Amino acid sequence: MPLEALILAAGLGTRMKSDLPKVFHALGGRPMLSWSIEACRQAVGKRPYVVLGPEARDRWRDLEESFEVIIQKERLGTGHAVAQAEAALKGKTEALLITHADLPLIRPESLQALVAAREESGSKLTLLVAESPTSRGFGRVKRDRSGRVTGIVEEAHATPEELSIRELNVGAYCIQCDWLWENLSKLPLSPKGEYYLTDLVGLAAEQGLEIVTASVKTEDEIIGINTRVHLAQAEAALRQRINQRWMLEGVTILDPANTYIGPQVEIARDTIILPNTHLTGRTVIGRGCRVGPNTSVHDSQIGDRCHLEHSVVEGAVLEEEVEVGPFAHLRQGAHLGRGVHMGNFGEVKNSTLGPGVKMGHFSYIGDAEIGEGVNIGAGTITCNYDGERKHRTVIGVDAFIGSDTMLVAPVRIGAGARTGAGSVVTKDVPDHSLAVGVPARVIRKLR
Ligand code: UD1
Ligand code: CA
Repeated sequence: MPLEALILAAGLGTRMKSDLPKVFHALGGRPMLSWSIEACRQAVGKRPYVVLGPEARDRWRDLEESFEVIIQKERLGTGHAVAQAEAALKGKTEALLITHADLPLIRPESLQALVAAREESGSKLTLLVAESPTSRGFGRVKRDRSGRVTGIVEEAHATPEELSIRELNVGAYCIQCDWLWENLSKLPLSPKGEYYLTDLVGLAAEQGLEIVTASVKTEDEIIGINTRVHLAQAEAALRQRINQRWMLEGVTILDPANTYIGPQVEIARDTIILPNTHLTGRTVIGRGCRVGPNTSVHDSQIGDRCHLEHSVVEGAVLEEEVEVGPFAHLRQGAHLGRGVHMGNFGEVKNSTLGPGVKMGHFSYIGDAEIGEGVNIGAGTITCNYDGERKHRTVIGVDAFIGSDTMLVAPVRIGAGARTGAGSVVTKDVPDHSLAVGVPARVIRKLR
């Protein structure tokens, strides 16, 4: 059966009190709308249509997901929003799955259950419901004595008796299109001056149609976002969802409430994540690692059995058994080979540190290539920038860089060479030679 999905995302979101349209506020590190698009794509197996306001024009192009855009110029309510899609969708599909972009935690499984309920019952209109003691300002589902759905009443217009109803309208519908397009134009104007999509339910009931409902799979799915308080609740629920998934996959998370893992992160088993750790972007963490506390890792690959503590890592690659921190900063293009030890107050950018390199204290390594087994003394700096351009430093295997060495790039230190403490190296040092002083001169050959 042909089925398309339509996401309503044009609302002004005034309750957010923001210059940013509501559906572009971040949740779990990506725009709220991305979550709905992804859930709909999974439920119907193709890209959804999204109703957006004209002010979103310069924002939606940044989204990674693909979708069709429909513009709603005037914001005259959810029923009016669906009507804007008629021209694009009429005759194109038998049924339409409609949902709201401000319900980012809805699972594709719940949307699929809604679609299946329509297919099995042949009902013209099916809706997703949830039983909950917390109303969240949602519309209430009204039923008659025999249990037939008779309509939805919005919280703002409900009587005290209706307010006590626990069955909530989640905001997802699967509707047969012929019936939808025929009846949308019959929606009355609400006391608020809007056309409510929810009034379709009352219309269908008046026509004697049976309205079938499907229930959400889990309670956290109905965290709809109207205010920033809801946004924080959704963030906490999402965090819990993601962290639980990793714990069940064999990752130890000491304090799940204070561990922040992005949706695209991968973590292998027997890794331990300590509190206040932020793993974001396309980060991959290997097996048996210990990460945290107070560590941020973004868009990086961490090999097996690495230890990172109190550190910031972005755009870096760490091979196995690397130790980082406390208080280290790895930046874009840092590549640390197997068994590298990088202690406190170090920074590495756009550089490769070969296997077993030791860099214990207070160093900056930028635009460098450091050979296997090199020891970088405390306070060593690659002076890679001359004010105009960046230059490279190359250090050969097993070299020993004395404390407080300034390596004025471009410069090359030979294999097995040494520099004296406090030397300022402006010229290349041959293999197995000792250079000392300011500027550094070779004073002897080493064996
Ligand atoms: C709506 C439902 C309510 C349901 C609740 C839960 C109506 C009238 N009420 O209320 O029964 O319990 O959602 O999700 O539908 N939008 C547009 N264009 C508009 C207005 C809204 O695209 O002109 C979009 C919004 O961006 C939002 C969605 O529709 O994503 C819902 O609008 P919102 O104003 O948040 O409706 P609620 O008051 O939450
Ligand atoms: Ca809402």
